[in-house]
Amino acid sequence: MSVARDPALSTSLCAIPLRNPIIAASGTFAYGVEFASLLDLNALGGLVVKGLSREPIEGNPPPRVVEAQCGMINSIGLQNIGVHAFVEDKLPLLARLTTPVFVNVFGFTCEDYAEVVRVLEDYPGVAGYELNVSCPNTKHGGIYFSSDPALLGEVVTAARRVARRPLIVKLSPNVSAIEPFAQAAEAAGADAISLVNTFVALAIDARTRRSRIGAGFGGLSGPAIKPIALRLVYQAAQAVRIPVVGMGGIATGVDAAEFLIAGATAVEVGTATFWDPQSPIRIARELTGFLRREGISDVSRIVRTLEL
Ligand SMILES: Cc1cc2nc3c(=O)[nH]c(=O)nc-3n(C[C@H](O)[C@H](O)[C@H](O)COP(=O)(O)O)c2cc1C
Repeated sequence: MSVARDPALSTSLCAIPLRNPIIAASGTFAYGVEFASLLDLNALGGLVVKGLSREPIEGNPPPRVVEAQCGMINSIGLQNIGVHAFVEDKLPLLARLTTPVFVNVFGFTCEDYAEVVRVLEDYPGVAGYELNVSCPNTKHGGIYFSSDPALLGEVVTAARRVARRPLIVKLSPNVSAIEPFAQAAEAAGADAISLVNTFVALAIDARTRRSRIGAGFGGLSGPAIKPIALRLVYQAAQAVRIPVVGMGGIATGVDAAEFLIAGATAVEVGTATFWDPQSPIRIARELTGFLRREGISDVSRIVRTLEL
């Protein structure tokens, strides 16, 4: 009796083999190692650690997180331990994993981005970099580079000069057209782009007539943003030849399939890990179920198959 084989989920991103296309997103999965007791880190397609800067950052004043309808608004402000503490305290544990580890890189200037990458280049255990040029929660750096494709090109060029590993550039959705930014990243040497980061948002306490977020504005994530994220991923994928990593509100295997169909090679899962820490693994399982039900033998067959 022949047993039907499960559909193949394995894929590759910038020549990095992934056992499945589901990656834990940056900022919602700490430095990865903190989740080791909650799930098998080696079952993930990949993981992205939270944004790292040259020096530690304390982050924004509280409250930093509020619940929104079908999502959440955060204003963490890139709190992190800094790249030097990361390579000492976290990377040795991460380097033992078989899962590719991507480091999310943040800076206030082009030199900051290049310096974080330069430090990491000396250490094993990093598969690639995701440049966060799209954080809406800091006054300088981050989203500043997403205000103009030329500025974006400058920061990508600076990081490219020092990065021997694959460079993924994470784009902001807070732009009127995504194509010029996707193309600027590609022209400056990005190996892939990822999108979307969060949407600048406001939550108001009507009684006090004040913002419910300490820093004033925050970034909206979760299922509420999925339809807009899908549109942006589709448009970006149409505009470049490099691979696209899609994210924004993914909570189920079918959500992941939709992003792949829109043009993503792989996807990231962020906010869903807050209510279900095992969601990246569950979503990979559900994606297998979807492909099986559709009679599709290999996940690559659905990538970029959208017909509008
Ligand atoms: C609490 C929180 C912290 C985040 N921190 C980062 C970060 O450090 N770097 C980054 O590039 N994106 C960060 N993000 C954005 C997510 O990685 C992701 O792009 C966004 O939340 C959309 O995906 P989701 O709807 O699945 O969460 C953060 C998101 C949240 C909710």
